[in-house]
Amino acid sequence: MNWLRSIIMPEIQGWQHARDVDDLFMFILYVSIILYAIIAIGVGYFVWKYRRRRENEVTPDFSHNTMLEIVWTVIPTIPILVMFFWGFSTYMHARVAPADALEIKVVARKWGWDFTYPNGMTFGQEMHVPAGRPVKLLMISQDVIHDFYVPDFRIKQDVVPNRYSTIWFEAEGPGEHVVFCAEYCGLDHSNMLAKLVVDTEDQYQQWLERKAEEVMNMPLPELGKLLYVSKGCNSCHSVDGSRIQGPSFLGIWGQTHRFTDGTSAVVDEDYVRESVLQPAAKIVTGYEPVMPSFQGLLREREIQALAEYIKSLQP
Ligand code: CUA
Repeated sequence: MNWLRSIIMPEIQGWQHARDVDDLFMFILYVSIILYAIIAIGVGYFVWKYRRRRENEVTPDFSHNTMLEIVWTVIPTIPILVMFFWGFSTYMHARVAPADALEIKVVARKWGWDFTYPNGMTFGQEMHVPAGRPVKLLMISQDVIHDFYVPDFRIKQDVVPNRYSTIWFEAEGPGEHVVFCAEYCGLDHSNMLAKLVVDTEDQYQQWLERKAEEVMNMPLPELGKLLYVSKGCNSCHSVDGSRIQGPSFLGIWGQTHRFTDGTSAVVDEDYVRESVLQPAAKIVTGYEPVMPSFQGLLREREIQALAEYIKSLQP
């Protein structure tokens, strides 16, 4: 019945857990098909066999059959117990990461993923892991409920605010996989994707070093553009002049902003810095004070980079 399997689950990739999940799924499917066939054929046969033949025909009086009842209770119970124990052990295996697993921290937000590596660096939207090493994800959401889902690896775990959740996997060889968000989380839920790249151990180490170097040496406006996406500024501030939750960044540099308390200020380095660290200090007229503070989350160079990026956005 491999043809059936190839239709339902075309690819088995990644790691042993994916094969365990697929094997269990196929076992449940086959048992269901067999039980369905027995029941459907039995129903059809008895409908035909005990059909009413004559007017006034009555069912003969009969009692139960203990042997038959024991048999039809015990036999189906066995595959169901197999499903339970098989499923439970597969589930436990997916839950409990080996102690030596590489830990990557995942922050979910509307609408993207940030991955923080053991070297402390955070890069968004593309996750790199080494092949042949268990990887444990420590995940939390900074807003609503999301769900980290890698169909190729058969792993899926809710990512919730105020509480860490974990999942782990071990990719067997290099390849690319897609991370989906599997919990409806608002407007851009369907675009909340990330790429999961499995490298060899050497490629992974090189990638980490290259990324860290890139970020260190990046020109400020480019770094600002990167942070604009990776820190999630883009979910509330557009760069094309359109209005979202917050004011657009387009062409605001050097302009005067008016605030809800009647004061005003020119958009310059100090204003951007204050807005990032103490967003509630000045609220632009017509907007709500909904922005979280980035105090402690950005280095001075990164704040400068954001200011330079905003400065570069001219209509
Ligand atoms: Cu995040 Cu759907």
